[in-house]
Amino acid sequence: MDKIQQAKEQLKRYHQNHMLHLLEQLEEEEKQKLVEQINQIDWDQIMELYENTKREIEIKENKIEAIAYLDKEKLTKAQKEELNCLGEKIISNGEYAVVTMAGGQGTRLGHTGPKGTFKLDVYGKGKYLFEILVDNLKEANKKYNTIIPWYIMTSRENYQETVEFLEKNNYFGYPKEQVTIFKQSELPLIDTQGKLLISKEYRIKEASDGNGGTYSSLRESGALADMKEKGIKWVFIGGVDNVLLKMADVTLLGMAIQKQVQIASKSVVKANPHEKVGVFCKMNGHPKVIEYAELPEKMAEEIDKNGELKYGESHIMCNLYTIDAIEKISKEPLMYHSAFKKNTYIDEKKREIIPEKENSYKFESFIFDAFEFFDDIAILRGKREDDFAPVKNKEGVDSPKTAKELYEKYWKRQTK
Ligand code: UTP
Repeated sequence: MDKIQQAKEQLKRYHQNHMLHLLEQLEEEEKQKLVEQINQIDWDQIMELYENTKREIEIKENKIEAIAYLDKEKLTKAQKEELNCLGEKIISNGEYAVVTMAGGQGTRLGHTGPKGTFKLDVYGKGKYLFEILVDNLKEANKKYNTIIPWYIMTSRENYQETVEFLEKNNYFGYPKEQVTIFKQSELPLIDTQGKLLISKEYRIKEASDGNGGTYSSLRESGALADMKEKGIKWVFIGGVDNVLLKMADVTLLGMAIQKQVQIASKSVVKANPHEKVGVFCKMNGHPKVIEYAELPEKMAEEIDKNGELKYGESHIMCNLYTIDAIEKISKEPLMYHSAFKKNTYIDEKKREIIPEKENSYKFESFIFDAFEFFDDIAILRGKREDDFAPVKNKEGVDSPKTAKELYEKYWKRQTK
């Protein structure tokens, strides 16, 4: 069967008549490109995800318990030195790599272009988010006399712009040969009738599959194989938008080594019981981040014997893994969550439709859904004013304004 016939069969089988009509109207080159894409789609997977959007979410009886953590602030000098020494050894030996997840859409911030190219208005001159990350890595390189390999994950859409931006800025002085930029995987957008959306270029419209896509994209892009070749043993994965993120925290690394766990994470205490953040817990005996909306109100307010929130450790996208853990997770399917969103599309008469309300589903997996594949996780409680200043919203909480204040205050304390 030729490729066009094969594509048409798929479209018929999965009830995509709009695309059959469209195919008839396309020029040869456009047609070839769309056919190629149709033949590459995992139709069973996307149809299953679509069917799931119609199902009621099953509320299972889960056993939720508080999770243990170590408070960095309460460690004695000797304890801290012991952990730091374990961590330092790994980094100076060249066995540590860092991954930055920069594939998000940054819709809430409303910045055009990749989020890492957003300039935070600090010290008059301003600093790009990518530049702030480089500052942190360069500081670690100097301290531990090494060059940490840096892997940056982008979406397919913002890959080119990210590469050009970093090239233009000479990687802010980071040794270019140690920087690898790779693309994350995508999934098609689908409407409420189960029809895939078409873009202005007459291609199936796809979008990044969430930050949980990092694991499989690391493997599929060859970045994981590259890490193994370099002898990497520990991998840090963090976001692009926390201007106080510490990507080479030797205490966190030392704690993971000492506790002999495969994954570790830095947390900060919830600002108040109803802050809209995910918190760590143990669910049915496994580590888990429970989302704000899923945590019963009573539990959100529960106090432990020390007078602290029982479920107070927030997940701040500051995670550490052994290379074996990444390998394991990268082969396991993560659950997809669906988000109902407004997406423009081209109809079968080639007209662009701009919907007034939500019209389609985007599927995303979350990085923390992988934690439950393990029996344990080591959590290090950091400090909000030292570790967490995200740039999420245009205004209000977690905005450029709050991040600037926290960033400048932090650096003022460091130079005192
Ligand atoms: P968020 O979930 O906060 O998303 O991402 P976002 O794209 O930055 O912002 P909104 O929700 O559209 O406003 C947390 C981290 O995960 C990355 C982001 O780049 C950020 O560093 N991310 C998110 C990806 O790398 N890929 C994705 O598909 C989603």
